[in-house]
Amino acid sequence: TFESQNNSKVRAHTNIALVKYWGKENEALKIPTTSSLSLTLDKFYTDTEVTFKNELAADQIIFNGEAVKGNKAKRITNFLNIVREMAGKNIFAEVKTSNNVPTAAGLASSASGFAALAGAASKAIGLKLNKKELSRLARRGSGSATRSIYGGFVEWQKGFGDQTSIGVPFIEKVDWNIHIVAILVNKSEKEMTSTQGMKISKDTSPYYVEWKKLCKRDLKNIKIAIKAHDFSRMGKIAEENAMRMHALTLSADPDFTYFDADSLKVMKLVHNLRQRGIECYFTMDAGPNVKILVEDHNLVSLKQELKKDFDEDKIIVASPGPGIKYLK
Ligand code: PMV
Repeated sequence: TFESQNNSKVRAHTNIALVKYWGKENEALKIPTTSSLSLTLDKFYTDTEVTFKNELAADQIIFNGEAVKGNKAKRITNFLNIVREMAGKNIFAEVKTSNNVPTAAGLASSASGFAALAGAASKAIGLKLNKKELSRLARRGSGSATRSIYGGFVEWQKGFGDQTSIGVPFIEKVDWNIHIVAILVNKSEKEMTSTQGMKISKDTSPYYVEWKKLCKRDLKNIKIAIKAHDFSRMGKIAEENAMRMHALTLSADPDFTYFDADSLKVMKLVHNLRQRGIECYFTMDAGPNVKILVEDHNLVSLKQELKKDFDEDKIIVASPGPGIKYLK
């Protein structure tokens, strides 16, 4: 039987990497080949409530009000198995989760999703984990979730194994008026998952060795830039790093890309705006949406330009956001 508090609800925000994670050294444990650095965002988050119930014969997963089955459910059950093993308790859970991300945005929700699940499931089953331990646990669900435990700028230190591969807050309270503008580009086809994409890149791209070296350099330099509030330097590193990640997909065998026509359109616009003195930089992840880094004083001009090509509801302005919060 189950005595301790069996229910918890957690909110976790998504994060966008400025120095990307793109490849695993250990696939089972999700240990990355490189350290990475991200900014947690205020606008996109996941709320997850977990209740362990003696009477359940299997986990029940409800996403945005609908029962989840198949591979998506399996990934969550596999994660709950880790939590059950840690707690030494064999009991199933009801998981209710909802994303506050515009529908079909295709914005990384696995980061906020597994960070919220790690927090809620571990507390509901009676484990008292600190943030370090939560970050480690979240990693087992999705690499990028490691960073979503914390707010602001967060480094995921690659570490030397399961114990040391964790998120570390770099600057949690961001005292810098910057934004990430997400442009929601329609998904044309089913894309390659990040798990598959990073594996093919690591196994076959001839540039992978170079990628690892450059990430080390980018991480060191972007931390200096962020500390100094040097927007130009931070943006340039972020854009270059993202393009190098996408060069790994283009140079993989089989080759693939997350770019589509609209992604390229936004990238060209960003280059164009910079030439006209409106400073901004882009980054892109394992999907066609482009995210633009901009300082507050250029936000209005940027939005005006974007509105010429994209509907207003496809342009979402986000700012630095907080780490996980217990709602119950
Ligand atoms: O955590 P995953 O498996 O969704 O991988 C995330 C990979 C990128 O979003 C492309 C980069 C990153 O560091 O978040």
